[in-house]
Amino acid sequence: MLTTLSPQEREAVSFYDRRIRAGDTVDKPLWADDFTYGMFRDHPDGPVVDIGCGIGRAIPALEAYGVRDYLGVDPSEASVTYCQATFPGLKFMISDVRLLGELYPMYFGGFLLLNVLMHTPEKDLDVVLSSLRKSLLPGASGLLNANKPAMAEYINDAAKSLTMSYYVPERLDEALKRHNFELDLFREEDVSFMMIVNAI
Ligand SMILES: C[S@@+](CC[C@H](N)C(=O)[O-])C[C@H]1O[C@@H](n2cnc3c(N)ncnc32)[C@H](O)[C@@H]1O
Repeated sequence: MLTTLSPQEREAVSFYDRRIRAGDTVDKPLWADDFTYGMFRDHPDGPVVDIGCGIGRAIPALEAYGVRDYLGVDPSEASVTYCQATFPGLKFMISDVRLLGELYPMYFGGFLLLNVLMHTPEKDLDVVLSSLRKSLLPGASGLLNANKPAMAEYINDAAKSLTMSYYVPERLDEALKRHNFELDLFREEDVSFMMIVNAI
């Protein structure tokens, strides 16, 4: 297990490792809709990094998102092994978002950070966003989402043992601004929200 991860993330990574090793790789599909369709069409030329790629749920939608070059990153060994076997034409690596800034300075043309911040302790948000921003080319865009505190009531039984992080949109937006991201599009739902941001 990567030593850079917080205890909360390690707990989550172990959970996903166990689930995948038990053969539980069924999840709801992701697709591009009017909010996300073509979001990477005009992005700078570097790859789009799918941070916390999990079992690669975003991959079927990559073309509709406008992704030309892809790298999947996840600290879960089982996720990366599963993705390498399932999507042999694509690149994947075991890593932590905290390491991307040093490993890949100004390299990525865009990013996906989907259903990952729920495992990120709020006290680590600045470290995480700073590393992410360092890894991006100016003009890169990214899609991220987070759960609002009201989500706590809806966590399913399987995930109830995990410590979850909840974010208020304004707080996350402030943190993003501190790291030179600007909000492009925002979509709020009852218990979660989604943002498309640009690296400035
Ligand atoms: C809920 S899953 C989401 C998977 C995928 N993005 C999706 O939406 O289907 C969260 C993923 O984030 C990964 N993760 C947790 N902490 C991470 C970190 N610090 N850096 C990168 N990925 C992380 C976990 O291993 C897990 O695969």
